[in-house]
Amino acid sequence: MKQLIRPILAIEKIAKDTFQLDLELELEELEAIKPGQFIHIRVRQGSEFMLRRPISVADVDLEAKKLIVIFKVFGEGTKVLSHLKTGDLIDIMVPLGNPYPIENLEIDRALLIGGGVGVPPLYYLAKSLVQKGIEVTTIIGFQSQKEIFYQKEFESLGNVYVTTDDGSYGRQGYVTDVLKHEKLNFDYYFSCGPEPMLRNVKKYLHYFPGYISLEERMGCGIGACYACVVKSADGKKYKKICTDGPVFKASEVMI
Ligand SMILES: Cc1cc2nc3c(=O)[nH]c(=O)nc-3n(C[C@H](O)[C@H](O)[C@H](O)COP(=O)(O)OP(=O)(O)OC[C@H]3O[C@@H](n4cnc5c(N)ncnc54)[C@H](O)[C@@H]3O)c2cc1C
Ligand code: FES
Repeated sequence: MKQLIRPILAIEKIAKDTFQLDLELELEELEAIKPGQFIHIRVRQGSEFMLRRPISVADVDLEAKKLIVIFKVFGEGTKVLSHLKTGDLIDIMVPLGNPYPIENLEIDRALLIGGGVGVPPLYYLAKSLVQKGIEVTTIIGFQSQKEIFYQKEFESLGNVYVTTDDGSYGRQGYVTDVLKHEKLNFDYYFSCGPEPMLRNVKKYLHYFPGYISLEERMGCGIGACYACVVKSADGKKYKKICTDGPVFKASEVMI
């Protein structure tokens, strides 16, 4: 992990309250970043925002030498980030957390299930799986049509189902409704999104091996403050999302 100060190549609003941020990094820095990892962003210098904000890596473009993240404005920190401009410098810690363990995964088909701000890390994962010759089906869920992003990008990699809570686009309902009604063929699943969604995904897919990525609140991001703990599946121990995760075997944690 390194602390870097790097320029913003581009910042663009891609959906309601949702921004794509492209950062310039060196090739060797980009090559160290794996799907499922996150960066920890210092909102701005000074004492106002002591805690950094964790944001998942959405993509790594080795040719254009850029790291891409996608974030939604939730509170003051992400609001400040949304006002950054091309050329501004940004202070990040990168890469943090454990990636999806796909290097030695020998499977034919993967199912990816993402909800809201849990969708971005699945894009870099989908690209990496397809590069390994693995067939990818993706289910992405949003509150409404206005919040949807990256549908076309996922469609360029495989079959995609889109759900909206209010039915304004795609199928009405939750990502788990697709699991209920479609016959999907896959060997492994990977999921990221809000905790209630992950809980239901785990419930429906408990016969399948899978990984989930948790995006709960964080403090230090490096294992020092215990702000990010989740209970292990046996309920006896705690795991830190920042250093033991954010990616966990679905059977490993209690959510
Ligand atoms: C490993 C990890 C990866 C993440 N990846 C992404 C990503 O790719 N894109 C993205 O948009 N967000 C992501 N998040 C969530 C993001 O970090 C928070 O939305 C952000 O820190 C909120 O900061 P803020 O200052 O805007 O809000 P705050 O002022 O800190 O909080 C404002 C509101 O946002 C809610 N909130 C704060 N943190 C979270 C959270 N982690 N999850 C849900 N609600 C939260 C609070 O409950 C509050 O209502 C990730 C979080 C983690 C831990
Ligand atoms: S955020 Fe500090 S221990 Fe995880």
